[in-house]
Amino acid sequence: MGQNTLIVFETYYGSTKQAANRIAKILAEDFNHDVTVHNISKDQKHPEIENYDNIIIGSCIYNGSWASHAENLLNKSFDGKNVGLFVCSMFAGEKSLYRKAYVAYLETPLEKHPHVKPIAMEAFGGRVPNKEYPEQWAENVASKLPEFTTDNRTIDRVEIWAKELGAKLKDILVTETTTM
Ligand SMILES: Cc1cc2nc3c(=O)[nH]c(=O)nc-3n(C[C@H](O)[C@H](O)[C@H](O)COP(=O)(O)O)c2cc1C
Repeated sequence: MGQNTLIVFETYYGSTKQAANRIAKILAEDFNHDVTVHNISKDQKHPEIENYDNIIIGSCIYNGSWASHAENLLNKSFDGKNVGLFVCSMFAGEKSLYRKAYVAYLETPLEKHPHVKPIAMEAFGGRVPNKEYPEQWAENVASKLPEFTTDNRTIDRVEIWAKELGAKLKDILVTETTTM
């Protein structure tokens, strides 16, 4: 039987949803996982964590922070679960800003949640729909990008990460069953 995997994500403009769905497709098709994808932006009542082997949490980044529902999930207990985390943000989509984004949006928030020990985490690029972004974005984000852009999603990196994650989870399962 395949592993049970829950992917919960929060999105405002859809790029985190796209990444979540791509990860789900790869885990289901290439690694035979039974995957549930849940959009916590639309429905805060997410499936019970207890029912899954693997929990993957994805968040969009606004003004330097995770979206609140996704961030709240980090307070849950993940005992005995394999946890994966990802974020989508414009800075993470720029080579020169990627490392800073990884630290600011993954390593730093995790310091507040030391019980969460992800087996994998990654920061991907993002997108804001053309003409729909507020002034704040233009001032706080666009002005810091090396070049003006509204789309620097890195879906190829999402796919690579999903494949690495699938392989890692397969190894963990093999280790568990051979040491039982
Ligand atoms: C008001 C606003 C604030 C943002 N703040 C940040 C930020 O602090 N750092 C960053 O890297 N990207 C920032 N972004 C870009 C978003 O992270 C990016 O658009 C991401 O793809 C959003 O994910 P979503 O499409 O799932 O909502 C911001 C975008 C907006 C509109």
